[in-house]
Amino acid sequence: MVREGFKTAREGLQDSFPLQLYHKAKKYFWDPQAIDFTVDKASFAQLTPGQKQASLHLASLFVSGEEAVTLDLLPLVQVIAREGRLEEEMYLTTFLVDEAKHVEFFNLLIREVAQEDNLERFHGDNYKRIFYEELPKAMNRLLDDPSPEAQAEAAVTYNMIVEGVLAETGYYAYYRAAEALKEQGVKLPGTLEGVRHVQRDESRHIAYGIYLLSRLLSENPSLWDTVERRMNYLLPYALGVVQDIFRAYPEGFPLKLEMGEFVNYAMGQFQKRYRRLDLARNQNLQEVERIALETAEGEA
Ligand code: FE2
Ligand code: FE2
Repeated sequence: MVREGFKTAREGLQDSFPLQLYHKAKKYFWDPQAIDFTVDKASFAQLTPGQKQASLHLASLFVSGEEAVTLDLLPLVQVIAREGRLEEEMYLTTFLVDEAKHVEFFNLLIREVAQEDNLERFHGDNYKRIFYEELPKAMNRLLDDPSPEAQAEAAVTYNMIVEGVLAETGYYAYYRAAEALKEQGVKLPGTLEGVRHVQRDESRHIAYGIYLLSRLLSENPSLWDTVERRMNYLLPYALGVVQDIFRAYPEGFPLKLEMGEFVNYAMGQFQKRYRRLDLARNQNLQEVERIALETAEGEA
Protein backbone atom coordinates (compact mmCIF):
# COMPACT_ATOMS: atom_id res chain seq x y z
CA MET A 1 0.00 0.00 0.00
CA VAL A 2 1.38 3.38 -1.01
CA ARG A 3 0.41 6.43 1.05
CA GLU A 4 -1.42 9.15 -0.86
CA GLY A 5 -0.40 11.98 1.44
CA PHE A 6 -0.75 13.34 4.96
CA LYS A 7 -3.85 14.88 6.45
CA THR A 8 -1.81 16.91 8.94
CA ALA A 9 0.19 18.45 6.10
CA ARG A 10 -2.90 19.01 3.93
CA GLU A 11 -5.56 20.43 6.21
CA GLY A 12 -4.76 19.60 9.82
CA LEU A 13 -6.75 17.61 12.39
CA GLN A 14 -10.54 17.95 12.30
CA ASP A 15 -12.15 18.94 15.58
CA SER A 16 -14.51 15.99 15.26
CA PHE A 17 -16.37 14.06 17.94
CA PRO A 18 -13.64 11.37 18.20
CA LEU A 19 -10.98 14.07 18.66
CA GLN A 20 -13.05 15.57 21.48
CA LEU A 21 -13.22 12.14 23.13
CA TYR A 22 -9.43 11.96 22.78
CA HIS A 23 -9.04 15.29 24.60
CA LYS A 24 -11.39 14.14 27.36
CA ALA A 25 -9.40 10.93 27.78
CA LYS A 26 -6.24 12.98 28.39
CA LYS A 27 -8.03 15.33 30.77
CA TYR A 28 -9.48 12.55 32.94
CA PHE A 29 -6.37 10.37 33.05
CA TRP A 30 -6.03 8.49 36.35
CA ASP A 31 -3.71 5.91 37.92
CA PRO A 32 -5.07 2.74 39.54
CA GLN A 33 -1.89 2.50 41.62
CA ALA A 34 -2.76 5.82 43.30
CA ILE A 35 -5.94 4.36 44.84
CA ASP A 36 -5.73 3.60 48.54
CA PHE A 37 -7.40 0.29 49.41
CA THR A 38 -6.54 0.35 53.15
CA VAL A 39 -10.12 0.94 54.34
CA ASP A 40 -11.55 -1.48 51.76
CA LYS A 41 -9.23 -4.23 52.95
CA ALA A 42 -10.38 -3.81 56.56
CA SER A 43 -14.02 -3.65 55.38
CA PHE A 44 -13.71 -6.83 53.33
CA ALA A 45 -12.46 -8.70 56.40
CA GLN A 46 -15.71 -7.77 58.21
CA LEU A 47 -18.02 -9.20 55.52
CA THR A 48 -19.91 -12.47 56.01
CA PRO A 49 -18.58 -15.46 53.99
CA GLY A 50 -21.56 -15.10 51.60
CA GLN A 51 -20.88 -11.39 51.07
CA LYS A 52 -17.20 -12.09 50.41
CA GLN A 53 -18.18 -14.72 47.88
CA ALA A 54 -20.66 -12.42 46.11
CA SER A 55 -18.10 -9.54 45.99
CA LEU A 56 -15.51 -11.83 44.45
CA HIS A 57 -18.09 -13.14 42.01
CA LEU A 58 -18.83 -9.63 40.74
CA ALA A 59 -15.13 -8.67 40.64
CA SER A 60 -14.24 -11.87 38.75
CA LEU A 61 -16.72 -11.03 35.96
CA PHE A 62 -15.22 -7.55 35.70
CA VAL A 63 -11.53 -8.46 35.82
CA SER A 64 -11.89 -11.09 33.09
CA GLY A 65 -14.21 -8.89 31.05
CA GLU A 66 -11.58 -6.13 31.14
CA GLU A 67 -8.87 -8.62 30.18
CA ALA A 68 -11.01 -9.76 27.24
CA VAL A 69 -11.68 -6.25 25.92
CA THR A 70 -7.98 -5.34 26.30
CA LEU A 71 -6.86 -8.39 24.34
CA ASP A 72 -9.59 -8.12 21.68
CA LEU A 73 -9.62 -4.40 20.78
CA LEU A 74 -6.56 -4.24 18.54
CA PRO A 75 -8.12 -5.57 15.28
CA LEU A 76 -10.63 -2.69 15.36
CA VAL A 77 -7.84 -0.13 15.86
CA GLN A 78 -6.05 -1.63 12.88
CA VAL A 79 -9.13 -1.39 10.64
CA ILE A 80 -9.67 2.26 11.58
CA ALA A 81 -5.98 3.08 11.02
CA ARG A 82 -6.00 1.41 7.61
CA GLU A 83 -9.00 3.49 6.60
CA GLY A 84 -6.88 6.56 7.40
CA ARG A 85 -9.24 7.85 10.10
CA LEU A 86 -6.53 9.65 12.06
CA GLU A 87 -8.70 11.36 14.72
CA GLU A 88 -10.57 8.11 15.43
CA GLU A 89 -7.32 6.20 15.75
CA MET A 90 -5.90 8.87 18.09
CA TYR A 91 -8.93 8.38 20.32
CA LEU A 92 -8.61 4.57 20.12
CA THR A 93 -5.03 4.73 21.45
CA THR A 94 -6.50 6.11 24.70
CA PHE A 95 -9.28 3.53 24.61
CA LEU A 96 -6.77 0.68 24.75
CA VAL A 97 -4.77 2.20 27.60
CA ASP A 98 -8.06 2.75 29.49
CA GLU A 99 -8.86 -0.96 29.19
CA ALA A 100 -5.36 -1.87 30.40
CA LYS A 101 -5.91 0.34 33.47
CA HIS A 102 -9.26 -1.33 34.12
CA VAL A 103 -7.55 -4.73 34.15
CA GLU A 104 -4.99 -3.29 36.56
CA PHE A 105 -7.64 -1.77 38.84
CA PHE A 106 -9.76 -4.92 39.20
CA ASN A 107 -6.64 -7.05 39.55
CA LEU A 108 -5.44 -4.79 42.42
CA LEU A 109 -8.88 -4.88 43.99
CA ILE A 110 -8.95 -8.69 43.99
CA ARG A 111 -5.36 -9.24 45.04
CA GLU A 112 -4.99 -6.44 47.63
CA VAL A 113 -8.46 -6.37 49.16
CA ALA A 114 -9.65 -9.96 48.87
CA GLN A 115 -6.30 -11.73 48.36
CA GLU A 116 -7.88 -14.44 46.21
CA ASP A 117 -6.95 -16.41 43.10
CA ASN A 118 -8.70 -18.97 40.90
CA LEU A 119 -11.86 -17.04 40.13
CA GLU A 120 -12.80 -18.72 36.83
CA ARG A 121 -15.27 -20.85 38.78
CA PHE A 122 -17.58 -17.82 38.74
CA HIS A 123 -17.78 -17.75 34.92
CA GLY A 124 -21.15 -19.28 33.99
CA ASP A 125 -22.35 -20.52 30.59
CA ASN A 126 -23.76 -17.18 29.42
CA TYR A 127 -20.59 -15.36 30.48
CA LYS A 128 -18.49 -17.93 28.65
CA ARG A 129 -20.61 -17.59 25.53
CA ILE A 130 -19.96 -13.84 25.36
CA PHE A 131 -16.40 -13.51 26.67
CA TYR A 132 -14.83 -16.79 25.61
CA GLU A 133 -16.58 -17.07 22.23
CA GLU A 134 -18.62 -14.22 20.73
CA LEU A 135 -16.35 -11.29 21.61
CA PRO A 136 -12.99 -12.76 20.47
CA LYS A 137 -14.66 -14.18 17.33
CA ALA A 138 -16.30 -10.90 16.32
CA MET A 139 -13.15 -8.85 16.97
CA ASN A 140 -10.61 -11.20 15.42
CA ARG A 141 -12.73 -11.59 12.30
CA LEU A 142 -11.67 -7.99 11.51
CA LEU A 143 -8.10 -9.18 10.92
CA ASP A 144 -9.23 -10.79 7.65
CA ASP A 145 -12.53 -9.05 7.00
CA PRO A 146 -12.67 -5.26 7.48
CA SER A 147 -16.11 -4.98 5.76
CA PRO A 148 -18.76 -2.63 7.20
CA GLU A 149 -20.79 -5.74 8.22
CA ALA A 150 -17.87 -7.17 10.20
CA GLN A 151 -17.21 -3.77 11.81
CA ALA A 152 -20.86 -3.42 12.75
CA GLU A 153 -20.99 -6.89 14.31
CA ALA A 154 -17.78 -6.18 16.24
CA ALA A 155 -19.01 -2.81 17.54
CA VAL A 156 -22.41 -4.23 18.56
CA THR A 157 -20.71 -7.05 20.46
CA TYR A 158 -17.99 -4.96 22.08
CA ASN A 159 -19.53 -1.52 22.61
CA MET A 160 -23.28 -2.13 22.77
CA ILE A 161 -23.48 -5.48 24.58
CA VAL A 162 -20.27 -5.95 26.59
CA GLU A 163 -19.78 -2.28 27.52
CA GLY A 164 -23.26 -0.84 27.04
CA VAL A 165 -25.32 -3.55 28.71
CA LEU A 166 -23.01 -5.68 30.87
CA ALA A 167 -20.43 -3.21 32.19
CA GLU A 168 -23.07 -0.51 32.83
CA THR A 169 -25.24 -2.96 34.76
CA GLY A 170 -22.16 -4.09 36.69
CA TYR A 171 -21.33 -0.55 37.88
CA TYR A 172 -24.91 -0.14 38.96
CA ALA A 173 -24.52 -3.33 41.00
CA TYR A 174 -21.36 -1.96 42.62
CA TYR A 175 -23.09 1.27 43.63
CA ARG A 176 -26.18 -0.51 44.95
CA ALA A 177 -24.12 -3.07 46.86
CA ALA A 178 -21.95 -0.31 48.35
CA GLU A 179 -25.12 1.51 49.50
CA ALA A 180 -26.42 -1.67 51.15
CA LEU A 181 -23.09 -2.32 52.89
CA LYS A 182 -22.86 1.29 54.07
CA GLU A 183 -26.06 0.77 56.06
CA GLN A 184 -24.17 -2.03 57.78
CA GLY A 185 -21.32 0.43 58.54
CA VAL A 186 -19.01 -1.09 55.89
CA LYS A 187 -17.22 1.45 53.69
CA LEU A 188 -15.46 0.81 50.37
CA PRO A 189 -13.89 4.16 49.37
CA GLY A 190 -11.08 2.77 47.17
CA THR A 191 -13.43 0.44 45.33
CA LEU A 192 -15.94 3.21 44.61
CA GLU A 193 -13.24 5.68 43.56
CA GLY A 194 -11.90 3.18 41.01
CA VAL A 195 -15.34 2.15 39.76
CA ARG A 196 -16.25 5.82 39.18
CA HIS A 197 -13.10 6.31 37.08
CA VAL A 198 -13.73 3.10 35.14
CA GLN A 199 -17.32 4.11 34.46
CA ARG A 200 -16.29 7.54 33.16
CA ASP A 201 -13.83 5.89 30.77
CA GLU A 202 -16.50 3.45 29.67
CA SER A 203 -18.96 6.23 28.91
CA ARG A 204 -16.43 7.50 26.33
CA HIS A 205 -15.98 4.00 24.93
CA ILE A 206 -19.73 3.53 24.51
CA ALA A 207 -20.01 7.00 22.98
CA TYR A 208 -17.38 6.05 20.43
CA GLY A 209 -19.17 2.77 19.70
CA ILE A 210 -22.45 4.63 19.06
CA TYR A 211 -20.59 7.09 16.86
CA LEU A 212 -18.89 4.30 14.89
CA LEU A 213 -22.14 2.38 14.40
CA SER A 214 -24.03 5.57 13.50
CA ARG A 215 -21.36 6.43 10.93
CA LEU A 216 -21.54 2.92 9.46
CA LEU A 217 -25.36 3.01 9.36
CA SER A 218 -25.38 6.47 7.84
CA GLU A 219 -23.04 5.28 5.07
CA ASN A 220 -24.87 1.94 4.61
CA PRO A 221 -28.49 2.09 5.88
CA SER A 222 -28.99 -1.56 4.86
CA LEU A 223 -26.58 -2.50 7.68
CA TRP A 224 -29.48 -2.02 10.07
CA ASP A 225 -30.49 -5.66 9.55
CA THR A 226 -27.03 -6.81 10.64
CA VAL A 227 -27.06 -4.50 13.66
CA GLU A 228 -30.57 -5.48 14.71
CA ARG A 229 -29.92 -9.19 14.26
CA ARG A 230 -26.68 -9.05 16.27
CA MET A 231 -28.26 -7.00 19.08
CA ASN A 232 -31.17 -9.43 19.39
CA TYR A 233 -28.93 -12.49 19.12
CA LEU A 234 -26.69 -11.38 22.00
CA LEU A 235 -29.36 -9.92 24.29
CA PRO A 236 -30.47 -13.25 25.86
CA TYR A 237 -26.85 -14.13 26.73
CA ALA A 238 -26.28 -10.69 28.24
CA LEU A 239 -29.44 -10.94 30.35
CA GLY A 240 -28.35 -14.49 31.19
CA VAL A 241 -25.08 -13.19 32.67
CA VAL A 242 -27.10 -10.93 34.96
CA GLN A 243 -29.50 -13.73 35.92
CA ASP A 244 -26.70 -16.28 36.50
CA ILE A 245 -25.08 -14.25 39.25
CA PHE A 246 -28.37 -14.19 41.19
CA ARG A 247 -29.15 -17.84 40.46
CA ALA A 248 -25.82 -18.80 42.02
CA TYR A 249 -27.31 -17.70 45.38
CA PRO A 250 -30.69 -19.43 45.68
CA GLU A 251 -30.98 -18.38 49.33
CA GLY A 252 -30.90 -14.71 48.28
CA PHE A 253 -28.05 -12.58 46.98
CA PRO A 254 -25.85 -11.76 50.00
CA LEU A 255 -25.29 -8.13 48.96
CA LYS A 256 -29.04 -7.45 49.23
CA LEU A 257 -29.69 -6.91 45.53
CA GLU A 258 -32.75 -8.19 43.65
CA MET A 259 -32.53 -9.85 40.23
CA GLY A 260 -35.56 -8.04 38.72
CA GLU A 261 -34.07 -4.61 39.32
CA PHE A 262 -30.87 -5.53 37.46
CA VAL A 263 -32.54 -7.32 34.56
CA ASN A 264 -34.71 -4.22 34.07
CA TYR A 265 -31.67 -1.98 34.26
CA ALA A 266 -29.85 -4.10 31.65
CA MET A 267 -32.91 -4.04 29.35
CA GLY A 268 -33.16 -0.27 29.76
CA GLN A 269 -29.54 0.15 28.65
CA PHE A 270 -30.16 -2.08 25.64
CA GLN A 271 -33.31 -0.27 24.54
CA LYS A 272 -31.75 3.18 24.94
CA ARG A 273 -28.92 2.28 22.51
CA TYR A 274 -31.18 0.37 20.15
CA ARG A 275 -33.40 3.43 19.68
CA ARG A 276 -30.40 5.67 19.12
CA LEU A 277 -28.98 3.42 16.39
CA ASP A 278 -32.39 3.00 14.79
CA LEU A 279 -32.44 6.79 14.22
CA ALA A 280 -28.88 6.88 12.81
CA ARG A 281 -29.76 4.99 9.64
CA ASN A 282 -31.78 8.00 8.50
CA GLN A 283 -29.08 10.55 9.33
CA ASN A 284 -26.32 11.82 7.07
CA LEU A 285 -22.72 12.02 8.27
CA GLN A 286 -22.98 15.70 9.23
CA GLU A 287 -26.04 14.95 11.36
CA VAL A 288 -24.30 11.99 13.02
CA GLU A 289 -21.38 14.27 13.94
CA ARG A 290 -23.63 17.12 15.11
CA ILE A 291 -25.86 14.88 17.23
CA ALA A 292 -22.83 13.22 18.85
CA LEU A 293 -21.35 16.61 19.75
CA GLU A 294 -24.66 18.04 20.99
CA THR A 295 -25.57 15.13 23.20
CA ALA A 296 -22.09 15.45 24.76
CA GLU A 297 -21.73 11.72 25.25
CA GLY A 298 -18.70 10.52 27.08
CA GLU A 299 -19.05 13.54 29.36
CA ALA A 300 -19.92 11.74 32.57
FE1 FE2 B 1 -13.08 -1.34 30.57
FE1 FE2 C 1 -14.38 -0.15 27.67
